[in-house]
Parts: sequence; structure tokens; C-alpha cells
Amino acid sequence: MSKHPVNRSTFDQVMVPNYAPQAMVPVRGEGSRIWDQEGKEYLDFAGGIAVNALGHCHPALVSALKKQSEELWHLSNIYTNEPALELAQALTDHTFAEKVFFCNSGGEANEAAFKLARKYAYDNFGPEKNEIVSFYQSFHGRTLFTVTVGGQKKYCEGFEPVPGGVLHTNYNDLEALKAIISDRTCAVVIEPIQGEGGVIPADPEFMKGVRKLCDQNNALLVFDEVQSGMGRTGELFAYMGFDVTPDILTSAKSLGGGFPIGAMLTTSKIAESLGFGTHGSTYGGNPLACAVALEVINIITAPPLLDNVSKKHDRFRKHLDAINSQYGIFAEVRGKGLLIGAELVEKYHGKAKGFLAAAADEGLMMLVAGPNVLRFAPSLIIPDDDIDEGMARLERAVAKVVSAEQQG
Ligand SMILES: Cc1ncc(COP(=O)(O)O)c(C=O)c1O
Repeated sequence: MSKHPVNRSTFDQVMVPNYAPQAMVPVRGEGSRIWDQEGKEYLDFAGGIAVNALGHCHPALVSALKKQSEELWHLSNIYTNEPALELAQALTDHTFAEKVFFCNSGGEANEAAFKLARKYAYDNFGPEKNEIVSFYQSFHGRTLFTVTVGGQKKYCEGFEPVPGGVLHTNYNDLEALKAIISDRTCAVVIEPIQGEGGVIPADPEFMKGVRKLCDQNNALLVFDEVQSGMGRTGELFAYMGFDVTPDILTSAKSLGGGFPIGAMLTTSKIAESLGFGTHGSTYGGNPLACAVALEVINIITAPPLLDNVSKKHDRFRKHLDAINSQYGIFAEVRGKGLLIGAELVEKYHGKAKGFLAAAADEGLMMLVAGPNVLRFAPSLIIPDDDIDEGMARLERAVAKVVSAEQQG
């Protein structure tokens, strides 16, 4: 019998079984460390799936949340509020965008982006221009529209019929896109780095070509930066490293540093198509969420944080290369900034979750991206000592998996 009134087995009793959480239940976090109900400590290389950009319980975020919680919690969009306005100002100051729509999650930000792309084409070119082109392996959320635009069929299975007018083609393949894009295309939707699909960065020349094809076909270019944005790649948004400007950009995850918020960014001209009454969200622009996100963006844009992200990338890579030269388990280490994927060699295909479990035993939280890729998306300010300690734990986990494989 567990000494805790609620524990992992409570999950099976009272929660819908769409998740399969780990056996331990985390109760406390500080920086890049987490403690579970039994007091066991973990190093966090998962960052809540690229959400806790400033680690757990960052004092400045705690203080922004506390301050706002004593002033104003919620109004709805019948009124605007100061934190939302200040955050929108910060986002437009730091990006190509002139207008912002707030919501609560990445899926919801993408839903808004896809609806806007359709509506803009409808307003400017007529109802025939309604096709959305996306890429295989992409991930854009779990609403019915976003799983349809996402390039992984398994997330649609059993939920049909799905919305129509969505086409898919190969990522990093300009000729394939050329073959599918047309004057019926209203938008091309792309992750600058496919996150869930295996941490696959877009080729810079491909990105430039996508921009050109969108312009030639009067199609909007939508960047889903839900995972790649807010400093993750070492730029505030990944588009800045490609020298390609999207028409619409979506953000969530790290935007709130752990407090739920999503945003869709665009230009004034395109934003006109979401006129009064066309779209909305009760909680969008919630003062608590916006006050925290404002603090997040202020901290992330203050030098030298973004420069340090690439230094921390190098440190991760050095450790992963060292593990690889000893155990030969990775076919490739890729990604940018602190979104890193290590693809397993064929021998270990399908076994990424085994490494995850072994790492958890050693006191390390990390992620997978599909069955063959280990994924790392830690806090952007993870201390170097924590990287070194986490990697020592990973090495012990790898040694165990490799030795079990050799024996069995
Ligand atoms: C690129 C991308 N877009 C959208 C989403 C969906 O975000 P949310 O789970 O906040 O709806 C995710 C989540 O993993 C993502 O990685």
C-alpha cells in the first residue's frame, strides 16, 4: 500500500486511459531537477516536452504569477487587459508580426492559423482556394483539424470523417512540393524542425524554395513554431535562422514556460480576415498566462541567454558523441539549440522507450520522438553541471540497455 492518498494507481482508477504516465509521480521541481513522491531526484532533460524553457519554478516567473494572481485572474475577451497587451507588444516588437491572437495551447494556435489561412484565401481569391499542404511526419496538435493537417495517419484513425482539403507531401523535398502546390493552395504549413516526427531540421535551401513556391501560388506560409520557438533553437524563433519570413507563426509550449498559453502571430493585412466575431476563445489572453509569458519573453530575449543555448547544444553533443563512440548506439545526432534528437542504429530500432525507462531508473527524465529517436528538450538555462550529471546518468542507462541486449 502506498503511503500517499493519491498515487500512480489512482490514475488507472479515475483518468481516461489516453496517457500512460511513468510509475513515479513528480511532486516538486526546481531549476532542472524534479523530486517524486518517494523523494527520488531526477535531472530533467525533457522540459515538459519543450515547455519549461526556464526550468521549474523560476523565481521571476513565480513572482510574476503571484503578483498577477493578486490583481486580476480572468475577464474574457469582452474586455482586454494590460498583461495581454504588453505581451502582444513584446511579440510584435521581437518578430515579423504586427498582430497577435491568444489562445491556450499549440493545437488551438494552429487551429486559428488554419482557419485564418482558409478565410484569407476565401476573402481575397474565392472559395476554391482552400487546400492546405502539409508534410508527412509533421505534428500540429490533437484537434480534428490539426490531426488532419498533421502528417501522421495514426492520429486520425477511428476519428473519421476528417476535414477535407488537406494534402501531404515529403518534407525537405522541393520537387514533391512543386508537384502538389497549385492555385488552389491557401497555405503551406511547416515545422522548421519536425519535433514529434523525429527531430528533423528543415534544409535551409528547401525552406527558401517553400517560401518562393508559396509566393508564386499566392499561398500563405505558416510556420508551426510551437516546439521550435521561444529560444529553443538559439534564435527567439527558428525562422530567424533560416532567413525566411512566414506569413503566420504559431507559438505555445515555451511561450508560457509551463503556464498554458498559445499565440498566433501574423501581419496586419492577413489579420483583417479574422474580423469581429469570426473566431475566439474564452480564455485567450488570460491575464495570469500573459503575465507569466511576458516575463518568459523578457528573460529569453535578454542577452546572453540565446547565445548560451548554442553553447549548451555543443555540450550536449559532446557528451552524446562520447557515449556513441563507446557504445555505437546512435546513427545520427541532429537538431539545433536545445532541441536535439539522437537516432538509434538499426539494431535498436523500436527500442527508444527502453532507453527512456533505463534513464528514469538512473534518475534522468528525457523524451523519445517516435520509436527510434531519443529526444532532449531541457530548460534553456540548464546549468552545465546538470548537463554533465544528466549525461553521466544517461551513460549508465545506455550501458545497462546495451549489456541486456548483448545478454539476451
Ligand atoms: C510542432 C507542434 N505543434 C503543435 C503541437 C500541439 O501543441 P499542444 O499540445 O499544446 O496542443 C505540438 C505538441 O507537441 C507540437 O510539437
